[in-house]
Amino acid sequence: MSQVKAKGLDHVAIAVKDLDKAIAFYQQAFGLELAEIEEVKEQKVRTAIFGHGLGRIELICPTEPGTSVAKFLEKRGEGLHHICIEVADIEASLAELKKQGAPLIDDTPKLGAGGAKIAFIHPKGTHGVLTELRQGPSKS
Ligand code: CO
Repeated sequence: MSQVKAKGLDHVAIAVKDLDKAIAFYQQAFGLELAEIEEVKEQKVRTAIFGHGLGRIELICPTEPGTSVAKFLEKRGEGLHHICIEVADIEASLAELKKQGAPLIDDTPKLGAGGAKIAFIHPKGTHGVLTELRQGPSKS
């Protein structure tokens, strides 16, 4: 059986209500290095990334009410929002998952933080965790 070629855990994402407060906490409590803060207009969120390469921590904070992260915070409060797996070829991965009957939220990749191509899989298809697939911009 063919399968998605995962490179590893790219990041875990935590939904927060106040990005600046959460950044200060993660820096002070754990000494984590803030890599960058970015507003992802397409997702209507501001993100803060700690660390580099695989295994990063991402804080996400909605910039508008009524968006999916805003609704998540209203319903569930702050907490683990999704995990992200880096893949070599996101289009091929989505095609493969579709073939396997996985409930894709995004059939085609959209633009995520850092110019990466991203797509989400519904938690009901991943044993309960919203899962993002990511293919980072190719570094030359
Ligand atoms: Co993410």
